[in-house]
Amino acid sequence: MQYPIIAPSILSADFANLQRDVEMVNASKADWFHVDIMDGVFVPNISFGFPVVKAIKKHAKKPLDVHLMIIQPERYIKDFKEAGADVLSVHYEACTHLHRTICAIKESGMKAGVVLNPHTPVMLLKDIIMDIDMVCLMAVNPGFGGQKFIENIYSKCTELKQMISEKGSSCLIEIDGGVNEDTSVKLLRQGADILVAGNYVFSSKDPVATIASLKSLSAHTLNV
Ligand code: DX5
Ligand code: ZN
Repeated sequence: MQYPIIAPSILSADFANLQRDVEMVNASKADWFHVDIMDGVFVPNISFGFPVVKAIKKHAKKPLDVHLMIIQPERYIKDFKEAGADVLSVHYEACTHLHRTICAIKESGMKAGVVLNPHTPVMLLKDIIMDIDMVCLMAVNPGFGGQKFIENIYSKCTELKQMISEKGSSCLIEIDGGVNEDTSVKLLRQGADILVAGNYVFSSKDPVATIASLKSLSAHTLNV
């Protein structure tokens, strides 16, 4: 796998032309599909549910990275596995028994991720970092696409990278929200591995080219 992993966020796709947009991502240099599930309770917005995830899976030729912005996500682990999730991420803030939930995700045969809201400190993951495959740092308050990047995420990313290397974990760092070419360059320097991009990709004139330019950033940034 060549880094960064690029995960276009389907939240910004044209839902009336979902198959077309899924096929665009298939044909691009993107690595994953980022799929946002919102319940209107954990976040002030509702996105879509299982029928839509299954419809994406039917046409997707790349893994589905499913981001659950829902309360009690442990109730739906098996359903998301059946709907086609390959990576399943839950919010730290939504899980009372995070370790149990992570174990259940992995036992279901998916990779397990934990997402931190912008205000949640990285240090809270110190006792679970060895058990998870990915940490996703929210760079916006979750709930909507197209919001402004919160600048303190750069230092959170550095801190997380340091924790991961000190512990000897193979956990990957994903950044979600406000990702564009400028923020990506800085994020990759701080150790980010996976870039989720919604608005930046889907509102661009040529989404395939935008994805390719994000994918090509690794060479530029890591050689600096
Ligand atoms: C926000 C979602 C994001 C969103 C990112 O709650 O989790 O995945 O699609 O959108 P952009 O890239 O437009 O900030
Ligand atoms: Zn997301």
